[in-house]
Amino acid sequence: MPGKDFMLLLKGLSYKYPDGTQALSDIDLEIRRGEFVGLLGANGSGKTTLLRTMDGLMKGFEGEVYLKGEDIRTLKPKEIYRDVGLVFQNPDDQLFAPTLFEDVAFGPLNMGIDTEEVKRRVMEALKEVELAGLEKKSVHNLSFGQKKRACIAGLLAMGHEMLLLDEPTAGLDPMGEYRMMKLLQRLNREGVTMVMATHSVDLVPLFLDRLFILSRGRITRGGTPEEVFNAPQDMENIKLRLPQIAELIYRLKHEDELPFERIPLTIGEARREIVRSLEALTSGR
Ligand SMILES: Nc1ncnc2c1ncn2[C@@H]1O[C@H](COP(=O)(O)OP(=O)(O)O)[C@@H](O)[C@H]1O
Ligand SMILES: [Mg+2]
Repeated sequence: MPGKDFMLLLKGLSYKYPDGTQALSDIDLEIRRGEFVGLLGANGSGKTTLLRTMDGLMKGFEGEVYLKGEDIRTLKPKEIYRDVGLVFQNPDDQLFAPTLFEDVAFGPLNMGIDTEEVKRRVMEALKEVELAGLEKKSVHNLSFGQKKRACIAGLLAMGHEMLLLDEPTAGLDPMGEYRMMKLLQRLNREGVTMVMATHSVDLVPLFLDRLFILSRGRITRGGTPEEVFNAPQDMENIKLRLPQIAELIYRLKHEDELPFERIPLTIGEARREIVRSLEALTSGR
């Protein structure tokens, strides 16, 4: 069975929209169980189309997509949604029930789970995303960040093994962004496989195991954040910048000729590199 060791396996995936737009071209990708993977790309690079394909929503693609070893084209929507949940970029496209409780309960009720168990799951999921106590609130009156977390609760209550998240931090303020990433990280550590589309390069190195760069529907690079960000020229070509910390150290190294051995991606690493390079300078090199 191809790809049974992977949560998701994509081989030679291409997709063209009916109007002729080639959105994805020849994508090979594998997502392992328990990973936290990022899809990084500028607007229009194909992130949403790729996530939707992983959720079985795109028909008529070329190539192969396997979910836990099963050809996704042979799976019924119910079978896909048992394992995988997609969090839309805009929560208003996802939330629809009158109250928060009803919204989060909708998925598991639809899966045929009995009402007592659904109630337990809803309360648990709301607690996970820090929305406990707001069960009776109308979803329209939630803040943008709360709506985003409500969408995640709805999927958690269904007990998904994998979440696909479309720009989960877009539109949040800096603290909201950080809290969202911390929440996703916690869920990932509890065992949920995460695939997240984003163009937010500064957050990526702090949280993701691996990332893939999407550019005009193609994957141009993939690997750990260190591997991907060590080629700044490539980043410019695909309209993304380096994480700010990396950009600073890169310039100090290349324009001011400071003796950095490597390009750090986080403040902690940068601090160590700076101290080390200062020591190298003062000891007369
Ligand atoms: N429904 C659609 N019909 C035609 N073209 C589309 C449609 N949705 C997206 N596209 C095009 O497909 C490409 C990839 O879009 P998308 O997957 O939304 O990228 P991203 O999520 O990275 O911004 C873009 O060129 C976009 O214009
Ligand atoms: Mg998108």
